[in-house]
Amino acid sequence: MKLFTLDRDRARDSVADFYELYRSRPIARNSLGMGFNHCFATWFILREMQPTVVVESGVWRGQSTWIIEQAVPAAEIIAIDPVPEARVYVSPRVRYETVDFSRLDWSQTDVANAVVFFDDHQNSYERLKEMFWLGFRHAIFEDNYPCGEGDFYSLRHLRAGCGHPHIQMSPAYARTPRERIKRWLVEPLLRRLGHAQKVIVPPNDTDRANLARNLAAYVEFPAVVMNDRNNWGSEWSGSHASVPAIFGSRDDLPADLCRASTTSTAGIDLSYCHLAYVALGMGPFSGTCE
Ligand SMILES: C[S@@+](CC[C@H](N)C(=O)[O-])C[C@H]1O[C@@H](n2cnc3c(N)ncnc32)[C@H](O)[C@@H]1O
Repeated sequence: MKLFTLDRDRARDSVADFYELYRSRPIARNSLGMGFNHCFATWFILREMQPTVVVESGVWRGQSTWIIEQAVPAAEIIAIDPVPEARVYVSPRVRYETVDFSRLDWSQTDVANAVVFFDDHQNSYERLKEMFWLGFRHAIFEDNYPCGEGDFYSLRHLRAGCGHPHIQMSPAYARTPRERIKRWLVEPLLRRLGHAQKVIVPPNDTDRANLARNLAAYVEFPAVVMNDRNNWGSEWSGSHASVPAIFGSRDDLPADLCRASTTSTAGIDLSYCHLAYVALGMGPFSGTCE
């Protein structure tokens, strides 16, 4: 299967069609799941690539499963989540699993023509290594937290060398005092366990160097249009800097979408977290990172 490369004009030309589709999504407000920008990115990448297999790790209520089905109706879809009770949208043509991606038998799967969609909040570097071992080469990482944010070691953490030294990096997500105390007690233990646990990663440059040996492509897919501030309420600058959105402002959007994005009742969630396409192991990486 060929590498995904981003054609911004094609992406821009697809937004109106996608919005028509998105209006019939099964879950109007997908809280704790993907909003409009990441749904578009996932749909567009898969439609361009046309894999024969899509593995989805992190189903939650099922919105992303539906998006995958819309993008590649003929593909085999395997959807993994250890908490199936949360599911609202269930498809009869999807194979559901509760065992971790790394623990399933992929020996009969067409891994060469597969894309793995990770939205499971697990250590991204570990996921890359597992994919490679299992023969998968293409992946979409839905959340790609900038340094200082998020609840797992992301591709951005890895590439910037900032690590993921706490269970939850975003102060706004510290939640209750009880939760803060729990983390304060647990984190030293996780650190002591070293590589046997995967949540905490010290700042380092080695993961980036080792990834570079196996990286064939890394593309951060732009938002269709961005909120004025990032998901944590700060500026899109420093470690939060983003690739330019497909549309510079809401005024440039197709009219229906523009109206929906500015009325709170339409439920268009424009959150964005640097969703990335990654390809592994197809010769040394010689391109530029978008
Ligand atoms: C952010 S939600 C996924 C949202 C979903 N992709 C969407 O946008 O509609 C994260 C999900 O990952 C699941 N999860 C946690 N650990 C996992 C694992 N090891 N493998 C797969 N899924 C996991 C959680 O149960 C949760 O449902």
